[in-house]
Amino acid sequence: MTIGLSFLLGLLASSVSYFMLGLWWPVAVVVGLFAWLAFGLLDVKMDSTFTLLGGLLLIFCVSLSAMVFRASDQLSGLQYVDTQAVDGTEFRYPVPLLGNARYGEAIYKANGCAACHTQQVTHESVVLDVKALAGEKNHAAVQEAISRFYKVTGREASGGAALGLPVGEWETVVNGANAADASKARNFLSIAGASVDVQVRFRGEDLTQHDLQNPRGRGWGKRRSVAQDYLFAEPPMLGSVRIGPDLANVGARLSREVLMRILLNPKIVRKYSKMPQHRFLFEKVGEDEKGQHIIHDGENTFKPTKNAEALVDYLLSLKSANYPLPEAPINQPYTSSMPKPVSAPAEAADAAKAGNSGK
Ligand code: HEC
Repeated sequence: MTIGLSFLLGLLASSVSYFMLGLWWPVAVVVGLFAWLAFGLLDVKMDSTFTLLGGLLLIFCVSLSAMVFRASDQLSGLQYVDTQAVDGTEFRYPVPLLGNARYGEAIYKANGCAACHTQQVTHESVVLDVKALAGEKNHAAVQEAISRFYKVTGREASGGAALGLPVGEWETVVNGANAADASKARNFLSIAGASVDVQVRFRGEDLTQHDLQNPRGRGWGKRRSVAQDYLFAEPPMLGSVRIGPDLANVGARLSREVLMRILLNPKIVRKYSKMPQHRFLFEKVGEDEKGQHIIHDGENTFKPTKNAEALVDYLLSLKSANYPLPEAPINQPYTSSMPKPVSAPAEAADAAKAGNSGK
């Protein structure tokens, strides 16, 4: 083999050792030199046992590092992220299970709830809508940009925006576009000097129902589940069969009272419920027993055991599909049609507080 070709093979061997196998650089250099010498000077042939075994080893190492180590690195490198609750308070996500809820997770496991319930919200697609606003000066340029966008993406130019774009008013340029088209629209429009507003919509059966945007939604979550959601779940109970509803976000949609009734006798809550009863998580008590979570069912009166309380604490902690993550955002409405900037109410409240304390 010529020196040039063997040098290339040596270079390949050392870069694989360094970048993919993560070997210390002097070791990677030695591996490369060895391959260069073996092929170039010692004249090892391509059909020799050495080459075949070396090739096998190389393929094995490359696939192991790319498919197994890299994926495992990505998952084990997951960290807390900052997110926002519905009321705007920021916190670090995910929140570890506290006290009773941790014990409740064990009860959930022990009772095989995962056999009928998944904890994994999915979505089907993301679509974007784009609106534009043109002033008098750039009106012609914006109109031109819009027709160019329609031409490039092969859309019907009958959208209205191309022909009758009103000056000084927001007008929809495209509805339901994919990410590539939406970014094209945004580029064209901003080059032409228009103000651009983008709305992001997620569609999928698991997500929040909306008459126009997601008519078939079942309301199991605001966003899809991602690996980050299971940072503290040991093991994550994803489930595979949905005999009952997904529970990834159950804590955000049901109250303690309702959950207790579902466990004792789901038919109290829904007449034709197919969920099995879990009466063994309750004790029968006297009819005149008073207390917080006493449930009357038919002739009898029941009180939840510690296990039932813990299980419900766990269920109430399941709210993962509620909070936006950088990796899995939730719907973003047009900012131009929002009544007020998000921070305004908080500032107003602060101002009011300051006013009160000043009295
Ligand atoms: C044999 C399958 C099965 C098992 C096991 C099961 N469930 Fe269910 N579950 C269902 C079905 C079916 C429903 C839907 C009930 C209905 O028709 O309204 C349901 C509904 C629920 C709901 C109401 C969800 C909602 O959004 O309305 C909760 C909460 C729940 N189950 C919790 C549990 C817990 C906790 C366990 C384990 C102790 C469990 N389930 C075990 C089948 C099951």
